[in-house]
Amino acid sequence: MNHLYSLKKSCQEATLCDILRVFGPSFFMILWSENIQHSEDFVQRLEENILENHQDDRFFFTTYNDKDCFGNSLDEELGKYIRSFYMKQTKEMMKNVGVHGYLNYKVEPNSIWVQMNNKDTDSHRIHDHHGQGAFISWVHVIKALPDQPRSFFFINSRGQKLYPKQETGDIFCFPSWALHGVEKAQVDGNRIVVAGNVSFNRPGKKDDNNNELRPIPV
Ligand SMILES: [Fe+2]
Repeated sequence: MNHLYSLKKSCQEATLCDILRVFGPSFFMILWSENIQHSEDFVQRLEENILENHQDDRFFFTTYNDKDCFGNSLDEELGKYIRSFYMKQTKEMMKNVGVHGYLNYKVEPNSIWVQMNNKDTDSHRIHDHHGQGAFISWVHVIKALPDQPRSFFFINSRGQKLYPKQETGDIFCFPSWALHGVEKAQVDGNRIVVAGNVSFNRPGKKDDNNNELRPIPV
């Protein structure tokens, strides 16, 4: 009886902070998510290609700084496939969040990149993508770490972390200003993701061929 009374009392006195301590921070960053699986053959080829081209095992692998898209970092055929797949996927994503046909947006050819980290490498420090002029960013988990469901995280100004669902195949997009990072891998295996940015054009802006950019009809 005393136990029930104290339980009831403690529930009544529970503050928002207490609830957050139990359930975690209640902030949301995901604009859209889905699970899209690549074939096992593709994932295996990509992983082998990354390991062949990984220059320094101390640091996570990234094609982000490859100015030639994937040309200097991955097999040419694989790079072309990835670019083509995610250019199409980005268009579908923009339809899903309501941007397609409403705002002018663009995906620069080098706004899609591949990354890999594992127990031996470092991980991606806390950062955002807004500095590059992006408005929407996305991550596709090609291969999740086994037994480590928490790698990618968002972080708020209170230092609270939020780990979205990130199993193999999960793809999600978020506002580019959202601070995020990747926890160091604690288990064996290679964690592989493809990530990208979408930029919005200001009204009246011209494209590279000097054509005025207009909303794209759906
Ligand atoms: Fe990032």
